[in-house]
Amino acid sequence: MTDIKRVFTVDGHPFFPLGGQSCNSSGYNEKESERAFEVIKLLHGNTLEIPVYWDQVEPVEGKYDFTAVDALLASARRHELKLILLWFATWKNGNMDYVPAWVKTNPKRFKRVISQNGKDIWNLSSHCKTNLEADKKAFAALCKHLKAKDNADRTVISLQVQNEPGIIGSDRDYGPEAQAVFDSPVPAALVAAMKKKGTGFVYDIWQKAGGKKSGGTWPELFGWEAGELMSAWSIAGYIDAIAEAGKAVYDLPMFVNVWMMEQPWWSLPGESYPSGGAVTKALDIYKWCAPHLDLIAPDNYPDDSRGYEYNAINYSRDDNPYFTPESAGDQNMFRGIADYNLIGNFFFGVEYIVDENCQVRPEYQALVENFHCISSAIPLLLKYQGTGKIHAFIQEFKLLAQRVDLDGWLGVVEFGEKPTRWAGKDWRHNAGWVWKEQTDLKRGRGLIIQAAEHEFYLVGTGCRVFLRRAPTPEKMQAPALVSDWATKIFGYIVSVDEGHFDKKGKYVADRRRNGDEIFRRGLWVEPDNGVLRVITCD
Ligand code: DGJ
Repeated sequence: MTDIKRVFTVDGHPFFPLGGQSCNSSGYNEKESERAFEVIKLLHGNTLEIPVYWDQVEPVEGKYDFTAVDALLASARRHELKLILLWFATWKNGNMDYVPAWVKTNPKRFKRVISQNGKDIWNLSSHCKTNLEADKKAFAALCKHLKAKDNADRTVISLQVQNEPGIIGSDRDYGPEAQAVFDSPVPAALVAAMKKKGTGFVYDIWQKAGGKKSGGTWPELFGWEAGELMSAWSIAGYIDAIAEAGKAVYDLPMFVNVWMMEQPWWSLPGESYPSGGAVTKALDIYKWCAPHLDLIAPDNYPDDSRGYEYNAINYSRDDNPYFTPESAGDQNMFRGIADYNLIGNFFFGVEYIVDENCQVRPEYQALVENFHCISSAIPLLLKYQGTGKIHAFIQEFKLLAQRVDLDGWLGVVEFGEKPTRWAGKDWRHNAGWVWKEQTDLKRGRGLIIQAAEHEFYLVGTGCRVFLRRAPTPEKMQAPALVSDWATKIFGYIVSVDEGHFDKKGKYVADRRRNGDEIFRRGLWVEPDNGVLRVITCD
């Protein structure tokens, strides 16, 4: 049993935010954002992630304009959606594109990172107090405005503080203030935290560099990775101070997202990803130095299972609930939910999902189905994540079947439309009696949730599930375990219903299925069936 920290709540209850993130420029006005809201509805989502821009809310120093923020609040309420606002400010993807013009044009006052060749780059320095104070003030003003306009409705459920922070163009700041830090002893609190943990990426880098005890400078303690780790420490502290100032005004959950360093072909801080972001190797530093962030969230894009799981493993920790503010919205979402207790998921660039008539583009149909399935099952996720009762099945390339070990039962999931058993599904769900070519197979994916010994819930697509009692020595002595008659020998089906969860989270059966619709065809479900409930007996 894992205790899941549900960072997101609505009306005091745990909430599973599901939806998408708008394209970068969609938050500037109502006309731009409307399409994003509409797509979230098509996705069956409950929340839109959308940016709020420092350059827009503070066009003149000290003069705030929250017109665009108010428009977002109004649209979200009209669409009955929640919002996660993304604070595009000091950092957006490792540069400073979203800072106001009065900051961009005054590098003397708002110091930039100096790269190794002595030139400044398009990135505000985290070592410059003036930068921090200016960003902090604007963020606190945003929080104050939200508190005034939204405290009662709580349309905004969380804030992302910066976007994929870090430095693109250098591993660290080589300016005089930063250089002085680099040449000074690593803060004793950081050394103490490493010692206390005694394991992990930061600890290993320290050990590899010789494990020098406290008193050493950054390069003495961390070798060639010192520049990146010092940047992480400095940027984490900067973001934490902004979050702290915001929370002091309006206590909303806050987090930061990460441009991940892992990519199979090339990985270099400051070049292939922003140096100083909360990447896997620097995550501990953020956990130690940014206590006002409720979580650190990887933008987990890999659609291969290995790449996805590597990130999920590293960012789902007791001290860090796993949340993906940006993802590919693919089958890995099911894996994240079942195996890593994912507490919310978003697809980046929702506007791309539909065509000019706001119809789902064929190439995005599978993604919409994924969100539809998950959205139907949210009450089950909130109840059973962390209990070991949620199981994902995913049809990897060419996989025909997957075995799922359940409590006292086995689920045999057969993938595809090709009827390996007797027939298709039902008249509403294609295949019929026609044998399909392998190339027609739709990748199967979904969840089996076993609520009790004889109570199962199923969401997904492109699959048939055959439930059997798990073999035990006594059962194995029963008549031969052959064909699907084994279902009869090792367990019976009492009822199969298609249904949905009502607003109070109670299951409502909409349609009973029996006879030809279950016999030998297995238990199958498609997104438009909602949630299948299966009751069994012996
Ligand atoms: C990740 C960023 O966080 C987003 O704002 C956007 O730029 C995407 N990358 C583009 O793929």
